[in-house]
Amino acid sequence: MARRLFAQLAAGASALFIAAVAVPSGAVGPRSDEAPPPAPATDGPTVYTESCAKCHGADGKGDTGMGKKARDKGKNWPDLTKSTVSADKAKEIIENGVAGSLMKAYKEKLSAEAIANVRDYVIGLRAGATP
Ligand code: HEC
Repeated sequence: MARRLFAQLAAGASALFIAAVAVPSGAVGPRSDEAPPPAPATDGPTVYTESCAKCHGADGKGDTGMGKKARDKGKNWPDLTKSTVSADKAKEIIENGVAGSLMKAYKEKLSAEAIANVRDYVIGLRAGATP
């Protein structure tokens, strides 16, 4: 009886030891040697660079390859530094996109915080703020 108890305790202790080695403190999940995926950035400049600059350009002027082609075809390709839409309208456009254009809805892709920040960022471009 005592022997059995001892064997169970020993097995339990070694299982704990293995768990402690495999999962260092603070780790979530068994594969702690891999860095957890970074939370998506929500600051305006990063969101803009990651999601918007390929069309609107780093400076917001829209002088991108896609922008030039679209303008050559006579399509609307806004210069965000000269945009006159209100802050509310800009937010609405970023959330829902513009039907029939390449401006897509971002409300499913970006958090509300990221949308508010990138909206403030693109409005800041109008004042000539450097990205
Ligand atoms: C695939 C290209 C593309 C991407 C990516 C894109 N846009 Fe646009 N965006 C457009 C086009 C084209 C329009 C003009 C739509 C229209 O009114 O015909 C536009 C319009 C806008 C407008 C309205 C400007 C005005 O004065 O009418 C804002 C604001 C804007 N985009 C912000 C953003 C932000 C912020 C992002 C990133 C989250 C973004 N866009 C990503 C192509 C893009």
